[in-house]
Amino acid sequence: MGMIAAGTLGSAEFRADYRVKYAYLAGAMYKGIASKELVTAMGKAGLMAFLGTGGLSPEEIESSIRFIQSELAPGQPYGMNLLSDLARPEQELRTVQIYLEYGIRHVEAAAYMRITPALVRYRLKGIAVDADGIVRAPNHVLAKVSRPEVAALFMQPAPDNIVRELAASGLLDAEEARLADRVPMADDICVEADSGGHTDQGVAYVLMPAMLALRDEMAAKHRYSSKIRMGAAGGIGTPHAAAAAFMLGADFILTGSINQCTCEAGTSESVKELLQHIDVQDTAYAPAGDMFELGAKIQVVRRGLFFPSRANKLHELYMRHGSLEEIDPKTRQQIQEKYFRRSFDQVWDETRRHYARLDPEQFEAMARNPKRKMAMIFKWYFAHSTRLALQGEEDQLTDYQIHCGPALGAFNQWVKGTAIERWQNRHVADIAERIMQGTAQWLNQRFGALAGADLHQPSK
Ligand SMILES: Cc1cc2nc3c(=O)[nH]c(=O)nc-3n(C[C@H](O)[C@H](O)[C@H](O)COP(=O)(O)O)c2cc1C
Repeated sequence: MGMIAAGTLGSAEFRADYRVKYAYLAGAMYKGIASKELVTAMGKAGLMAFLGTGGLSPEEIESSIRFIQSELAPGQPYGMNLLSDLARPEQELRTVQIYLEYGIRHVEAAAYMRITPALVRYRLKGIAVDADGIVRAPNHVLAKVSRPEVAALFMQPAPDNIVRELAASGLLDAEEARLADRVPMADDICVEADSGGHTDQGVAYVLMPAMLALRDEMAAKHRYSSKIRMGAAGGIGTPHAAAAAFMLGADFILTGSINQCTCEAGTSESVKELLQHIDVQDTAYAPAGDMFELGAKIQVVRRGLFFPSRANKLHELYMRHGSLEEIDPKTRQQIQEKYFRRSFDQVWDETRRHYARLDPEQFEAMARNPKRKMAMIFKWYFAHSTRLALQGEEDQLTDYQIHCGPALGAFNQWVKGTAIERWQNRHVADIAERIMQGTAQWLNQRFGALAGADLHQPSK
């Protein structure tokens, strides 16, 4: 018997603040892949998951919140994703408005490159000095970041100019604005190494020590009353990886890819079937549809699929040409027949209808620029391929866009030959339990071995 138990891993303060059994979180997955059912299953087990609000309408977000709040007892943990969208800041403000109305206490903030008014409003709403004279912000922000310069923004108080603006427009009251500089923007920073979905392809071994040093530096400078905790995400699909994260100094861990291949995940059975069989080398990088022009990358399933190579091809064509007309006829034909299975004109029509609802003015401006028009037509493929996967359109399976990192391949190997080899037997909370129990065992065994005791324990 070792000293380490699943319930002692990570930060005790984290477990208390989040009211969770383990220092383990399930990260958001867009379009409700991290579904309301996934969030409530975790909450009922005393664990927190974040609803995948990206790509959901405000109405869908609200109805999911109502579902979660009616399923969970008061005090059972749950949270929501909050995504930065610099192109449409009003969307983010609207989401925050909903979170404030429904009393959402935990957000996983991601995709931020700078601090936004919406995020500041969420963070500072309700901040007050308690009976012991300690400044407390009721709304917890966990910032998921992959770069030190972004981490630094979240380790500092809200920018002055944003606080002043919000106070002037009545979105924060005078007391909330006054206390702004007493807390950092985030209570917790989750350092994301190479992961499923959007990725900066970071390496945990490198990032964690640098981020911990940055945290200590910022803490010394600002003298906050509580410590900013540091977590780790990206590549965690086995006890071995989780153990490494805790050894690197993580106060908590966060998983993503492994939760997409469970009963609770909001995606098609045909995607789950594919996911169940992937190995550690079956993923690839592709351009991100939502940041296509910027060349941002996502990690997706490669095994048996054309999506990654087709998506990369579209990006390459976009980079090399000023308009669709500049692309050679043979390639143009191939894209329309093989990739899109419809003509550019049909795609353009769909795109126009989509934007007519969202932002007709912006659409007209983009339509006049041939390069931007090409980007819009190519970006249709990204929305389309996501839809195919989520709906399980098996006759177009090779075009599925499935965000996923190699952590799932490692997980699949780890559970081979056990009851949860089949995805139909995989449940998010059970996976969390197995990983955390396995991590404690693995660490005890490793510590024993490193200290010179040969315990002859199996590695599973
Ligand atoms: C299918 C899928 C969709 C994701 N969508 C989002 C998202 O909408 N918002 C977000 O913050 N992170 C998203 N992520 C990232 C996860 O929350 C998590 O940070 C990441 O998956 C952890 O790395 P791992 O995949 O190696 O476990 C997504 C990941 C996957 C696999």
